[in-house]
Amino acid sequence: MTQLQRYAGRRVLVTGGGSGIGQASVLRVLAEGGRVVAADISETGLKDTTAKAGDAADRLHTVVIDISDEASVRAGVGAATEWLGGLDTLVNAAGVLRSAHFEETTLADFEQVLRINLVGTFLVTRESIAALRAGNGPAVVNFSSTSALFAHPYMSAYAASKGGIQAMTHALAQEFSKQGIRFNAVQPGSISSGMTDGTGEAKQSIGPGLPEDTDYSLFAKTAPALPLADGAIFAGPDSVASVVAMLGSDDAYFITGTEVRVDGGSHM
Ligand SMILES: NC(=O)c1ccc[n+]([C@@H]2O[C@H](COP(=O)([O-])OP(=O)(O)OC[C@H]3O[C@@H](n4cnc5c(N)ncnc54)[C@H](O)[C@@H]3O)[C@@H](O)[C@H]2O)c1
Repeated sequence: MTQLQRYAGRRVLVTGGGSGIGQASVLRVLAEGGRVVAADISETGLKDTTAKAGDAADRLHTVVIDISDEASVRAGVGAATEWLGGLDTLVNAAGVLRSAHFEETTLADFEQVLRINLVGTFLVTRESIAALRAGNGPAVVNFSSTSALFAHPYMSAYAASKGGIQAMTHALAQEFSKQGIRFNAVQPGSISSGMTDGTGEAKQSIGPGLPEDTDYSLFAKTAPALPLADGAIFAGPDSVASVVAMLGSDDAYFITGTEVRVDGGSHM
């Protein structure tokens, strides 16, 4: 349990709050005294987050949202800011990972990944800007990935979406700097979550959904350098939530337009 209380009095919206790193970020902000709206397309995931919030659930509200749908985002962000009475921190954690051979990637698959990860981050951020502008020490934490800058095979659409988010984060940091809204990104890698926990060989390597004839030697450079307990190769989502909490709080008041890589040193 953290002793920090950086979120006392802060109002926070976390997309993807029903699973993995988004859920861990919700729980971390609650533990630090914040009020949080967890938004996710998965109602089941949101129920799980509420159950895990325990005694802090009275400072948690949930909203079902599809970040790739403009009307859903407008309604969801509106409901969130109304319940919170404003907005100080936005965490754009919602996203999807689809892996495939490049030549077998359909246009629909490619566009869906871009639509959810990149366009979704755009939509939620745009709808949140007015509330953030009126917020206290407003901050946005976006989700890039190690795949944005380092070579991850079979994930061209995902890598493109995450590179786009990183570039957009820098552009927005500059555009809103004089209005005091900070924009930063995290670059997770090798984190245990709904996205990466598969079965069999996938669980032992990089994640589910890879092609059957995947050449795992292409992932040789993505193994974490830092050792984990019990020989695990993926770290828990709390490893990223702690950094999200720092970037979204006033502790990071002089940090904007950059990213923090959280990958156990796999891309040093
Ligand atoms: N796990 C890793 O190693 C890793 C590495 C790099 C980046 N990331 C990023 O971290 C973020 C969180 O992912 P995670 O690893 O915790 O995976 P996760 O699958 O556990 O969580 C993603 C959440 O996003 C939600 N979501 C998906 N599509 C949505 C939509 N259209 N609208 C609203 N919610 C939607 C899902 O329901 C899920 O709850 C993602 O942006 C992901 O790309 C993760």
